[in-house]
This record gives sequence, structure tokens and C-alpha cells, in this order.
Amino acid sequence: MSCRNITVHLAITLLLVLFSCGKNSVKPASASAQQPPANSGLRNVLPFPFGAAVNTDLLEKNKAYRDVVVKEYSSLTAENVMKPKALHPGENTWNWAAADSLVSFAVKHGQRIHAHTLIWHKSLPPWLETFQGDTQAWERLFKDHIQTTVSHFRGKVASWDVVNEAIADDGSMRKSIWLEKLGPDYIARAFTYAHEADPSALLFYNDYGHEYGTSKREVILKLVMDLKNRNIPIHGIGMQMHTRGTIPDKNLIDAIQTAASTGLKVHISELDIAMNPENVKDLEFTGALADLQAQKYRLIVKTFNSLPAAQRFGITTWNVGDADSWIPGKYGKPDWPLPFDKNYQPKPAYRAIVEAVK
Ligand code: G3I
Repeated sequence: MSCRNITVHLAITLLLVLFSCGKNSVKPASASAQQPPANSGLRNVLPFPFGAAVNTDLLEKNKAYRDVVVKEYSSLTAENVMKPKALHPGENTWNWAAADSLVSFAVKHGQRIHAHTLIWHKSLPPWLETFQGDTQAWERLFKDHIQTTVSHFRGKVASWDVVNEAIADDGSMRKSIWLEKLGPDYIARAFTYAHEADPSALLFYNDYGHEYGTSKREVILKLVMDLKNRNIPIHGIGMQMHTRGTIPDKNLIDAIQTAASTGLKVHISELDIAMNPENVKDLEFTGALADLQAQKYRLIVKTFNSLPAAQRFGITTWNVGDADSWIPGKYGKPDWPLPFDKNYQPKPAYRAIVEAVK
């Protein structure tokens, strides 16, 4: 090879080396945003917040649980520790410790807190259920519970389920201590009091049964539209969606789309899909059941993802893995309602959630 040829050869080699170094070191930002690594967690893959209701005891004591919560979720809801029974054990006694440590955990891991719940007919402290007083005393108690709680978490939580499950399954107003003592407009006043205590928090009405059919759903939609039309500070509608593998697709689609028709933010707030609705004692979770469940998760996520971005508050599953679901304990039967199995390994439902947004 002549001296000139050697020089040309070296120059070409140098250019090739520089070009390939450049390719490796300057990765276009858009490429990494579009294609997160397969193991990067749902919080990085989904184009809207993905959350779970978490058990603070498990978060503290179970490393596998803690790891999956950090990796997969961008939003956390307290399964129990922000309910009145936990926060407000005596008329003048408050217990913030467990809820505060959940908030610190979320801050540390860059996660949003959706707070649950201010006013519900369940999980009331015993002192409140036996409280004696006239209407004014009940109103003071009601306002104080809401405003002390919301003020404590002001600036730390993004949002609240202000009123939970105020409509009964037959579409009537649910009989509760709040309805009995304060009358039906307690719902509107709960939102107003919460807004006064934290004007930045997004406020939700949360209920179940949107996917059962039209009767209860229409009453819920009318309730939230009445609040909205009266300029009561309501920002979102929470659909719990404790549902089952046997639910027709159309019911799920109609539930999500009609909630969005309110113009409010939509939160699928307590999603789980029970696969043993007949409560069979020795049922096994077969591949066919896993596939059916995956198909329902896919449909729910796909339908939710088709809503306008500003209305997609997020999807939250109720618990993390099948072993910590509230369903088997409550109904005394095996079930597998979540995208993670009892060892926090992803199930076919997990893959379906990822595929639904492709
Ligand atoms: O922590 C005590 C424990 O000390 C005691 O020994 C034991 C005896 O029963 O009870 C334990 O508390 C239980 C708590 O869960 C923690 O496990 C309560 O009895 C029990 O009522 C409570 O159930 C919760 C339920 O709401 C009522 O608050 C479930 O975990 C929780 O998953 C469930 O969540 C609700 C949502 O808030 C609203 N939508 C429906 C959803 C499922 O029911």
C-alpha cells in the first residue's frame, strides 16, 4: 500500500470510529421516551398516572412489596390509613403517623398521593357513630373532620375522594349517618369545606357500579352534574371498578365513556377484576382465566387511554398483588384480581396493560 493509500485508509477508519462513537453516546431523547426498556415499570410505560392502593404495614415490612410499589406506580392511594377511623380515633385526637409516613415514602419515590377518603358511611371511628348532638353540632363535627384532615395534607396530596359511595345500589341516596344527621346536601357542603381547606387539591366523587348498567350510573352522573352546574368545587369522578371477568365489554366501555361525558377528570380508582365471582372454594387460576382477565384489563386501559389527555387522571388498582387483595379475605374464597401474582410477578394482565397503550 502506498503512503497516500495508507493515509486515506486511516482517515476513513477514523471517520467510521467517530461516527459509531457518536451514535452510541448521543441517543436522541425522543427514542428513549418512546421505547422505555421492557423492565422499566408501568409508571414509565403508560401515558397517564398508574397507581395502587397500598397497605402501609406491607410497605414497611415486605421488601418484595416495597420494590414493586416503587418500580411500577406513579400514584399511591392509602388503602386504609387516611380513612376517618384511622386518622381521627377520638373527638379531639388525631393520628397522622401512618399516613404521614406514606406521604414521605411517595415524596421520596416521586409518586403522587391520591387521598382516600373524607366522608364515607364505613370506617367511622366508634366515637363518631355514637356522637350525640343537634344539627349544628353535627355540622361542626363534619366540617372540622374535613378541614382538619385536608389542612394537614395541604400541599402534600394531589387530590381527595371527598365523598365515597353516597348512592345505594338501587339508585336511592345511601342511608348513612351523614344523610340522617345533615340531609342530602351534605355532599355539596363536603366539597365546599374541602376546597376551603386546600384550594389546590383536586376533589372527586367516588363510587362503584358504573359498569353494572345504567340505573345506578345515571344517578351518579346526575349527582356530579348537579354539583358541577351549581359551581360546587368538584373536579373529578372516581369509578371504583371492582369488577369481574364475566362483565360484558360493553358495560366497561359505557362506564368509562359516560363518566368522561361529564367533562370532569376520570379516575378508575379501585380497579380489580375478580375471577371467581361464584365463590368456588377450590377453583384454580387456569391459563384460560388468566387470558380472560388480561383481555378485560386490556379493554379497560385501551378505553381509558382514548379519553382526552386532560381528563385522564389515572388508573389505580385496589392493592398490588393477588395475595394482598381484599377480595379473598372478604368473601372467604380464592381469587386473583390483580396484575401481579402472590409473589409480585407480572401476570398476563400486566402485559395486556402495556399492549393496550401501544
Ligand atoms: O387493622 C385491624 C386489625 O388490627 C384487626 O385485628 C382486624 C380484625 O378485623 O381488623 C383490621 O382492620 C381491618 C382493615 O381492613 C385492615 O385490614 C378492618 O377490620 C377492615 O374493615 C378493613 O377493611 C377495609 C375496608 O375498605 C373497610 O375500610 C379493606 O382493607 C379495604 O380494602 C376496603 O377498601 C374499600 C374502599 O375503601 C372503598 N371501596 C371499596 C373497597 C373494598 O371494600
